[in-house]
Amino acid sequence: MATYLLLLGTPGAGKGTQAKRLSESLSIPHISSGDLFREHLDEQTELGKLAQRYMSSGDLVPDDVTIQMVHERLSREDARGGAILDGFPRTPTQAQALDEMLAANGEGIAAVLFIKVSEATVIRRLGGRRMCRAKGHIYHVEFNPPDVEGICDLDGSELYQREDDQADTVSNRIRIYFEQTAPLIDYYRSKGVLVEVDGEGTIEVVTQGMLEALPEAASQ
Ligand code: AP5
Repeated sequence: MATYLLLLGTPGAGKGTQAKRLSESLSIPHISSGDLFREHLDEQTELGKLAQRYMSSGDLVPDDVTIQMVHERLSREDARGGAILDGFPRTPTQAQALDEMLAANGEGIAAVLFIKVSEATVIRRLGGRRMCRAKGHIYHVEFNPPDVEGICDLDGSELYQREDDQADTVSNRIRIYFEQTAPLIDYYRSKGVLVEVDGEGTIEVVTQGMLEALPEAASQ
């Protein structure tokens, strides 16, 4: 049985940071819808140009194109044994589409890790976030700085600040999260797969909390 894990939480809760660490611990790929859109944007594909119109203001990209993009990614060979989904699903329509995609292969969601953090924490985290151009490795100027300022420790590429981490856009992203994504908490709770994790600790402490909270079937 494959292991599909979902990470849920506000923008800046630490989904990308934790997904990368869990991916290494559990040896399953990390699939981030935001990273997939940013790759399309870098390559200037039609999807990238469309996504940019929504991402720059912090709005959600329409469900149909998002679902199609994630479906294509999940169909690749490396995701057959499972995956850690970060940032998808984000609407009830996307959640239903994911259930159908997995059910078509006789699979289901092993656990949804809901990372709980305060709004004040999120604002501090997003304000200081830096990302690497080459592979999207995540840093923070205060909480997780690189060895050399402005340079990725892992691949030497330039670190940059995401356009959607500007204060105005962050407020819109948080508002949209509460309107469109937060209802998924009850959706997954009612299915018995929701696992709540305290996201306020250090990066290492949060990872440890997640690994301890995972149901046995998901951590093997
Ligand atoms: P996306 O890239 O998914 O952004 P997001 O969900 O807003 O999440 P973030 O990447 O901002 O935060 P995160 O929780 O991953 O936090 P991180 O680990 O980086 O989406 C971007 C846009 O794409 C959306 O707005 C939308 O337009 C579009 N999109 C994407 N998916 C979509 C979908 N499914 N449907 C429609 N549209 C979609 O951490 C943040 C910072 O905090 C970092 O600097 C990190 O170093 C630091 N940090 C992390 N954990 C800790 C800790 N424990 N202690 C201290 N610092 C920490």
